[in-house]
Amino acid sequence: MATPLKVAVLISGRGSNLQALIDAFGPQIADSPVKIALVLSNRPDAPGLDRAANAGLKTEIVDHKAFQSREDFDVAMDREIRAAGAAFVVMAGFMRLLTPQFVTAWKDKLVNIHPALLPAFPGLNTHRRALDAGVRFHGATVHFVRHETDSGPIIAQAAVPVLPDDDESTLAARVLQAEHKLYPLALRLIAQGNVRVEDDRAIVSDAPLADGVLFNPALTS
Ligand code: GAR
Repeated sequence: MATPLKVAVLISGRGSNLQALIDAFGPQIADSPVKIALVLSNRPDAPGLDRAANAGLKTEIVDHKAFQSREDFDVAMDREIRAAGAAFVVMAGFMRLLTPQFVTAWKDKLVNIHPALLPAFPGLNTHRRALDAGVRFHGATVHFVRHETDSGPIIAQAAVPVLPDDDESTLAARVLQAEHKLYPLALRLIAQGNVRVEDDRAIVSDAPLADGVLFNPALTS
């Protein structure tokens, strides 16, 4: 069995994506390709911290409010990540902008999940904006992090249909379900060495690809 990829998971809140990663790669999984070395939150009250503690994972709080500058906050975070022995950083609902220094230091070792089919709808309120735009498909993206918000080489995406009766919460729930499958899939591919970056695009090898075309409304004849 190859050495597992030691990751730090960064959270700010609910931690349902963290839970999906715990279910896939937590201490209860024998021979996991990923080891969660640390769960770090910038909010002391993030419910995700309880999920981590319940799974027996090491947790740290680096409260952004205790720092004078973003630079100081990111330096403190970087220190904790390295102290835990993590070689890779996974943002799972982490709602802080990162400094260029941090992003550069972790280039191609830092991934994020975003609740939209990037490059559509970077930023906040993605579900509201998808509904307002009238798109027929929406979804989630796992990508390496670059300097611009919600940009960087795309590793994997999940598409879900937008249905006529959807409101923000029904659409968000459908996307979130997809996120919980997408993030473990993407991280497994990375840990197994199936993802590399070339010309600032992510190349995925030895993974079955989606086939077929999705129509919404569905094609009936
Ligand atoms: C998820 O939908 C994630 O994609 C989103 O925050 C939510 C966190 O939920 N992230 C972003 O919007 C980052 N740009 P969770 O805490 O239950 O995983």
